[in-house]
Amino acid sequence: MTTKFTALKDHDTPIKVLFTGYLCTVGIGYLFALIQILFTHGMADGKLGLSIDDIVYSYYGNRSGTVLENQLNGAMKANAPDQERFAIIEWVRDGADEDAYKDDGIDKIVEQRCVMCHNDTGSLPNFKDFKVLKTYTHEDGGATFASLTRVSHIHLFGISFIFMFVGLIFSFSETPTVQYKCIAIGMPYAFLIADILSWWLTKIDPMFAWLVMFAGMGMAVSFIFMWVTSILEMWLFTTVFVNGIGAKYLEWRDSHEEFLSDKLLAIVKTMAGQLKPALAFVKDAWLAKALPWLKSLVKK
Ligand code: HEC
Repeated sequence: MTTKFTALKDHDTPIKVLFTGYLCTVGIGYLFALIQILFTHGMADGKLGLSIDDIVYSYYGNRSGTVLENQLNGAMKANAPDQERFAIIEWVRDGADEDAYKDDGIDKIVEQRCVMCHNDTGSLPNFKDFKVLKTYTHEDGGATFASLTRVSHIHLFGISFIFMFVGLIFSFSETPTVQYKCIAIGMPYAFLIADILSWWLTKIDPMFAWLVMFAGMGMAVSFIFMWVTSILEMWLFTTVFVNGIGAKYLEWRDSHEEFLSDKLLAIVKTMAGQLKPALAFVKDAWLAKALPWLKSLVKK
């Protein structure tokens, strides 16, 4: 394969260090993003680990309960003993009345268990203010349109930049074929848009929760593929692609003249080629048989 670019393995060491530093940093960033997802969305149903339920609760909401109740059974579960959680939940179910808040001693529980985090110093809702707490005693409709708008634009701008540079580095790789490189570089953008779109769709209908998961996984797969290929080509080219299992892959790549993508393209081309004679046949049949027959019908 002739290339019009400097292959990763042939770049100067300082450039390789730059590329590697960037890849390692965004790789660690990706890990933290996954941990963050696990502890926020992952806990929405009260159990660790991301499930379809978690996604539905996060975006569509758990409309059988209130925000406060769902949080106390989910991400906030560990912050108060069961007895006190149930006391709060019961108070919410009884109408979240302001007088009962004091009479039932709910104010003391919140004071003791919640306001160390939920106060006026941080970005979390301030539960010292009863009015703020009260807003969480309504039906849980999941993510608000305001929060979705905010997170959507941050993700689109931020993540597209990450894939800009990961893709750029990977575009200097020489072991995958041009087709597979195009797929790996383009896929994250398609999945990123699908991911953001699927949040909004899930907000409207919980049916789309699977799309959130699918798009997230697609993005991760292409990220891992580009990351691993780039690092291997820069630092372990001889070990992997000359002496190691990578050599077998290269042999296989060069022995297969046609790849699946080529075959698909060939099929599409053949079908398009068939289209012209088929159309000509239809036209001839129309002029020679159908038209005279129709004319004779009209004359009668
Ligand atoms: C250790 C700190 C901490 C304590 C203690 C704590 N929370 Fe939280 N709480 C958080 C954080 C952090 C979030 C945001 C998590 C997220 O974004 O998913 C949060 C989110 C919430 C939310 C959702 C807010 C929203 O905007 O959707 C509710 C409701 C809530 N907490 C209730 C409680 C209650 C009730 C208690 C007391 C039993 C409590 N929390 C105790 C840290 C805490």
